[in-house]
Amino acid sequence: MEKTNWIGGRPTGSPIFEPNVNPAKLDEVIGHYAWATVEQAAEALAAAREALPGWAASNPQTRSDILRRVGDELHARAEELGALLTREEGKTLREGIGEIRRSAQIFHYASGEPLRNGGECLPGLRDGTTTMVTREPVGVVSLITPWNFPMAVPAWKTAYALAFGNTVVLKPSETTPGCAWELADILHRAGLPAGVFNLVMGDGRTLGPVLVDGADAVSFTGSPPVGRAILERTVARMTKVQLELGGKNPLVVLDDADLDLAADIALQGAFHSAGQRCTATSRIIATRRIHDAFVERLVAKVRAMRVGDPLDARTDMGPVVNQPQLDKDLRYIAIAREEGAELACGGQRLDANGYFLEPTLFIGTDNDMRINRDEVFGPVASVIAVDDLEHAIAIANDSEHALSSGVVTQGLVAAETFRRRSRAGLVMVNAPTAGIDYHVPFGGRSPSGYGGREQGSAAVEFFTEGKTAYINHGVTA
Ligand code: UN1
Repeated sequence: MEKTNWIGGRPTGSPIFEPNVNPAKLDEVIGHYAWATVEQAAEALAAAREALPGWAASNPQTRSDILRRVGDELHARAEELGALLTREEGKTLREGIGEIRRSAQIFHYASGEPLRNGGECLPGLRDGTTTMVTREPVGVVSLITPWNFPMAVPAWKTAYALAFGNTVVLKPSETTPGCAWELADILHRAGLPAGVFNLVMGDGRTLGPVLVDGADAVSFTGSPPVGRAILERTVARMTKVQLELGGKNPLVVLDDADLDLAADIALQGAFHSAGQRCTATSRIIATRRIHDAFVERLVAKVRAMRVGDPLDARTDMGPVVNQPQLDKDLRYIAIAREEGAELACGGQRLDANGYFLEPTLFIGTDNDMRINRDEVFGPVASVIAVDDLEHAIAIANDSEHALSSGVVTQGLVAAETFRRRSRAGLVMVNAPTAGIDYHVPFGGRSPSGYGGREQGSAAVEFFTEGKTAYINHGVTA
């Protein structure tokens, strides 16, 4: 099965087609996907540029109807597309289907944005004048997305970009092009005019520079080094840019926590989706009084996790995404042991025809160890013991990253103290650090995030430019 790019409304082949391989069954090729050339990326930008005036001026109802139809189809095909997502990314089928449903909800929510995109009208300060603040599309936007949410991240960037009248070139991760291809196909059948949405699959290093240089705005989710490289390129051209990068997310468990709830929250945050979320819990910070009782509960739950074929309904955790990620996970497990961390459970690669790794938990760690400084992006978490809430807050905030954080406590004062003093962009009280709602702003503080939040009420800031008009109509009565 060969899947092409979409440029100017047309399926467009390429001299290069690369296989998309199932990380749970290495001999299963899901399909061959066209890797766009640099020239094709430029053509996609030109098509988006040509389509821009028409789309920017389109009736809001037209945009709304198209986005709603995309959401409807995603919803109707959630099981089928969820299985595709699971086959190309490796998260469990439950998570895969959930991600497609969430993507449908994102399109449904965003389908209201064209109608809600009002402005402000204020009295002018000179007689006979009115001032008006309105919002316009930014223009041609390049969206560059990661493999860990192969449908949801393309969905939440694309849906809002289109809702506000921008035209799009999407470059999904080369590791998971399948979901993005399906999204492109659905968008075209939903009635999107040619060139409004373009898909170029392939290698980021090759296509990235063209896509960044040729766009009016760039929205990227992915690794910090790539984010930094994109930022440097956009700064030179003063191009609008939004970056969602790494996390080293702390979950604090306090003396008064419900320890079973705390263990469930830690398990979900650290190991669901094989820990491959920028919001994943990686530093579990537990007060000494409950440390042993909490760790005992958590270890029992981690040991009970079934690792295996993610299409099997009994599986709790599938494989990690590819060989480089597996190598990185194993490297960090070795580093943690060398640093003196104690392995509480896991740590081994499983003998199977896929990138399977045991969920791995370290205890007896301190916050200066590399395992607690660097983002691993796999099913690896560690526990740090602390004295009290003050100590926990200090450790939680002592990180280069500031994306998500959490606290488990039954105390209102402790919860509110943590909510206020956490540096993270997302704070969870008695809830996992990962797993976010689609209708509220998402993102972290620099350097975890840069250039404004995504989703919900925040999306309009990035995907539009403001215009303030002073209108001297002369009417004073
Ligand atoms: C979530 O936690 O539900 O790449 C979403 C990521 C984030 C999305 C997290 N951009 O992990």
